[in-house]
Amino acid sequence: RDLPATPMWGYGGCFPGPTLLARRNEPLLIEWANALPDKHFLPIDHNIHGAERDKPEVRTVAHVHGARVSSSNDGYPEAWFAPGHSAISHYPNAQDAATLWYHDHAMGITRLNIYAGLLGAYLIEDDAEQALNLPKGDCDLPLILCDRLIARTGELYYPVSDDPEAPWVSECNGNAILCNGKLYPFLEVEPRRYRIRLINAANTRFYELSLSGGLPFQQIASDQGLLAAPLPRPRVTLYPAERAEVVIDFSGMDGKSVQLRQQSEAIMEFRVRDRGRKDTSAVPASLRTIERMSAASAVRDRVLTLGEQDDAGGSPMMMMLGGKHWSAPITEDPRQDTTEIWSMVNLTGDAHPMHLHLVRFQVLERRPFDLFAWNENKTLTYTGPAIPPSPEEMGWKDTVRADPGMVTRIIARFEGEPGRYVWHCHLLEHEDNEMMRPFQLL
Ligand code: C2O
Ligand code: CU
Ligand code: CU
Repeated sequence: RDLPATPMWGYGGCFPGPTLLARRNEPLLIEWANALPDKHFLPIDHNIHGAERDKPEVRTVAHVHGARVSSSNDGYPEAWFAPGHSAISHYPNAQDAATLWYHDHAMGITRLNIYAGLLGAYLIEDDAEQALNLPKGDCDLPLILCDRLIARTGELYYPVSDDPEAPWVSECNGNAILCNGKLYPFLEVEPRRYRIRLINAANTRFYELSLSGGLPFQQIASDQGLLAAPLPRPRVTLYPAERAEVVIDFSGMDGKSVQLRQQSEAIMEFRVRDRGRKDTSAVPASLRTIERMSAASAVRDRVLTLGEQDDAGGSPMMMMLGGKHWSAPITEDPRQDTTEIWSMVNLTGDAHPMHLHLVRFQVLERRPFDLFAWNENKTLTYTGPAIPPSPEEMGWKDTVRADPGMVTRIIARFEGEPGRYVWHCHLLEHEDNEMMRPFQLL
């Protein structure tokens, strides 16, 4: 197919940006230089709420999603800088091996900047994980998935709302699903095991991935690194910002091709060709120990609503966290080195991938609650038993799916440097539309 090229933005001039590879405890300094033009190429003015209008149209700040870094290096949304400026960030990499990713986080326009192409993979390796003999080198690669609306002319298109009362679009699903920035690419693989690091970098879409011919995935890691044991899975579902590392075994498939599918649509192809190399990798039956955090260790259980509307006549599409706008005084203020439970009460009809900066967490449970009772008198009444997390959610996470009609409860130990961080919905249209709040580590 002869398709015209699509102009994009990108870190280091590429989309996705270069894959950054870090070693545990080897700090990295990155200078992020804003070399973007002064004008955005996506429609921005119609959907920036009042407070954003006096800001430069193009601004950016980089955040490494899932990295434990201090507040001033974390890409705080208001720490953006304009074209011609740069910022140096320090990444200690003092955390377990994991598939992280970096992306823009500028206040009010994150959805457009990421959509324009400002994203890339950031991998941390450590000795324990390297000692496992999982597939390595050119048999270990990130696969960043995101979708875009692309016009026939090749141009990137971002939808515009025609409702003056609701100037934001609340979602953006593309017509083209891109794998590492390409439409239906192929990868030549050998008949052996591969470690593929799946990253959902889409604005809105969740992916339900499978392989043709019923070939299974062996999931070995989630957001914050290895699971306790490999998990055979026919399908892997990823909400925006979630990651899954999988091992795919192409042995015995010389000459065949295997498609990666999003639901029933083929989105890329693995072409298996034997090049006579021997596979010495292995997937051990046990990957690491993950101790479950006990609810009893929490000093606090915060009940936080998702998607509460502004009754002061705000836009009907405006969704908030804990019923508060971004600019309201800090309410989430965990103390350093304490453990808290956050019980996220979803008042909307949709699932939201909720993400906390700085910390990794465990999913305790999801539990159905009575929405009417909540709306009547703000009391939390459970209507059924707690549902434990599924096996792939038993590892360390930094983004969790908060289902509609459910209270999603997570537990985290707030280690790190005191300062201001954020938590938000990772549907980027929601994040930019008030579904983000600061939190202060005391
Ligand atoms: Cu992917 Cu606030 O982050
Ligand atoms: Cu993040
Ligand atoms: Cu959301």
